[in-house]
Amino acid sequence: MTTVLNSLRQEAVTTNSPQDNATSLNSLSPNQQLLPLTAVVNANDHLEIGGCDVVELVQQYGSPLYILDEVSLRTACQQYRDALVKHYQGASQVLYASKAWSCLAVCAIVGSEGLGIDVVSAGEILTAVRAGVSPSLIYFHGNNKSLDELSYALEVGCTIVVDNWHELKTLASLAKEQALSVAFTAPRIMLRLTPGIECHTHEYIQTGHIDSKFGFDPNEIEAVFAFVAGSSLNCIGIHAHIGSQIFELQPHQDIGGVMVQWFKLAGEKYGLQFSELNIGGGLGIRYVESDDPPSIEEWIKAVSAGVTEAFVTAGLALPKLLCEPGRSLVGATCATAYTIGGSKTVPDIRTYVTIDGGMSDNPRPITYQSKYRAVVANQMSAPLSQTVTIAGKHCESGDILIKDIKLPETKAGDTLVVFGTGAYNYSMASNYNRLPKPAAVVVQGGDSSLIIKRETREDLLRQDCLPERLRK
Ligand code: LLP
Repeated sequence: MTTVLNSLRQEAVTTNSPQDNATSLNSLSPNQQLLPLTAVVNANDHLEIGGCDVVELVQQYGSPLYILDEVSLRTACQQYRDALVKHYQGASQVLYASKAWSCLAVCAIVGSEGLGIDVVSAGEILTAVRAGVSPSLIYFHGNNKSLDELSYALEVGCTIVVDNWHELKTLASLAKEQALSVAFTAPRIMLRLTPGIECHTHEYIQTGHIDSKFGFDPNEIEAVFAFVAGSSLNCIGIHAHIGSQIFELQPHQDIGGVMVQWFKLAGEKYGLQFSELNIGGGLGIRYVESDDPPSIEEWIKAVSAGVTEAFVTAGLALPKLLCEPGRSLVGATCATAYTIGGSKTVPDIRTYVTIDGGMSDNPRPITYQSKYRAVVANQMSAPLSQTVTIAGKHCESGDILIKDIKLPETKAGDTLVVFGTGAYNYSMASNYNRLPKPAAVVVQGGDSSLIIKRETREDLLRQDCLPERLRK
């Protein structure tokens, strides 16, 4: 049967890395696929993910619904891990950047694959800890961590990636206070530096260039090292992150060469013996056919080669190499199912097809002009006979999920499924227009389990307070 899925999958597979049909799922790099690895069309002509009929999932759990494919997520984790073992001679650790999607189930799955977690708030720390991730594998980022968050992180025992002078001084004085107690262990920190490497991605998600709000300016590095050397902090290494949704390999391959000079300087001049180098995340994913990211293995190979060459040339031992992918781990593993409502045709201009969600569950199109692909899950082999624009239900003209997409004739009640929604969708979701946040399920081998409950109308009022004098 020829279905829209074949054409999406064909594109996904052949454009970048030709594979034959017999290729096993787990040799495909999930970040290069438009579809979750287990997506197929079943005998009812419905889309199936993880062995579950998506139309039935919507009947059971309602819509909008985030559908997480466990096989895709575990495969991505394994590919990062295995590629490091294959291409890097030193020790290594993959950390999942949980800002992409922080929830108990996602953290538990990546944790069970041996990954650590990069967190950016006390909320993300709590989620990782409750999901069972060891604090020794939790790394705390952020450019304005509050005193409360820092104290909580120290109590939990995670590593703190220090971003700036204010934070460094705050931590040093917290450590000084605690140093008097018998049970004192020096807080483990890393220093985040701005490496001055530019890359081609959306301006909002570039972080490695010098004019960035993140990290220490390299011009101040000697003063920072001198301060750290005189403190009771245990500084184990340095960190850089240059941006997100990056398709070029060179900028990441260059990080090793930039960081090695600081590694050397810290040891030789300030007696700081660093052991870990964290090169951040940033590998892109395929949202539409024309996106052409390298595979997870190609990315790890390039990064490892850059770090190895730089450290060998500098005569230094290979550091423990950390990387912290978010999008390329979880992005392609999830699809969002919506129910189609009405439509509106503006003659000679366009037809709007409306769905029961929009910018509140996926704010990326309105924020970054991001593009997505979608199918109608209950009529997978129907001809793509119309070009339509998928409009969200929010009171905002810009709430357009997909502009000009080819779909079959649709009717109210059809199930629209948008791919590539695992990263920065749920985590950036809002209650704009007081829409409850959708539910999420994980699917695997024909089983589905709820991982996030749908918010109810009552939930929306949970934090509201009505002062006595305003009550009727
Ligand atoms: N490490 C650090 C320090 C980061 O700031 C980020 C992402 C990552 C790792 C993970 O990067 P990834 O592998 O996911 O590219 N909301 C935007 C993306 C913001 C990325 C922020 N930092 C979007 O939806 O495109």
